[in-house]
Amino acid sequence: MKTFYNKIELSAYIEALKAKGHSVGFVPTMGALHNGHLSLVRAGFDKNDVVVVSIFVNPTQFNNSEDLLKYPRTLDDDVALLNSVSKTAIIVYAPSVEDIYTTKIEAQKFKFDGLEHEMEGAFRAGHFDGVGTIVKRLFEIVKPDYAYFGEKDFQQLQIIRKLVALHHLPVKIIGCEIYRTDDGLAMSSRNTRLTSQHRAISPFIYKTLKTAKIKFGTKSAQNVTEWVIKQFKNESLLELEYFIIADIETLKPVKRKSTKKTYRAFIALYAGDIRLIDNIALN
Ligand code: PAF
Repeated sequence: MKTFYNKIELSAYIEALKAKGHSVGFVPTMGALHNGHLSLVRAGFDKNDVVVVSIFVNPTQFNNSEDLLKYPRTLDDDVALLNSVSKTAIIVYAPSVEDIYTTKIEAQKFKFDGLEHEMEGAFRAGHFDGVGTIVKRLFEIVKPDYAYFGEKDFQQLQIIRKLVALHHLPVKIIGCEIYRTDDGLAMSSRNTRLTSQHRAISPFIYKTLKTAKIKFGTKSAQNVTEWVIKQFKNESLLELEYFIIADIETLKPVKRKSTKKTYRAFIALYAGDIRLIDNIALN
């Protein structure tokens, strides 16, 4: 497996592959890879000859400096995991902060038709400017044909689709289903930081989402939301930050259900000091 630390060398290598007619898939990550990431890489091989995986903990998308500091950095383990998927057709790009940000570690300001103000945008100031900045920069460096993003970060996925549309970026975005552990917890690099007590209670999140989905079949969004809030009040180990049922196009909370629209329920919560998010398709 080839690993690049420098964008110029990486771009030259990819250009040469493209000149030979190879198509390039791209999976951007912040490392601490797990089976969820590997499922994106495997999806990448459905349509592409090679898959580039970037491993970069992007400072401009963290609004909490302690979270940035504590974010797991496990490059050797990540490369070993990727090797188990393919020894020859994966290219790793693990840049330094300087290779990406050159002189100033600063996010560009973006407008994503209001998607950036909802949910994660409301609770994590500047987060989507940071995500937009790094993803656009990585697309410019890698120039992939297809790029793969997990639906666990569904708002991020919709924002990246919007970024591509508004900036006419020549890449096709593929959203991939949430990868869950056997007990239902959505895979996340943050899961390794859960205490055993919090890890043990965490299946409660998906269990509650699944029941909320059933209830949404017959009840109003408000009714379902009140029910979820009550469940979390009774579960002292998990602190609910938000539960929102939203239209998947606008990400705005649903006021009145319409059969013409598609909805998803989104949740963010704290398990101790670890912030987790998850979501579920409702109709
Ligand atoms: O989803 C992530 O891991 C990050 O937000 C991404 C897309 C790699 C950008 O840093």
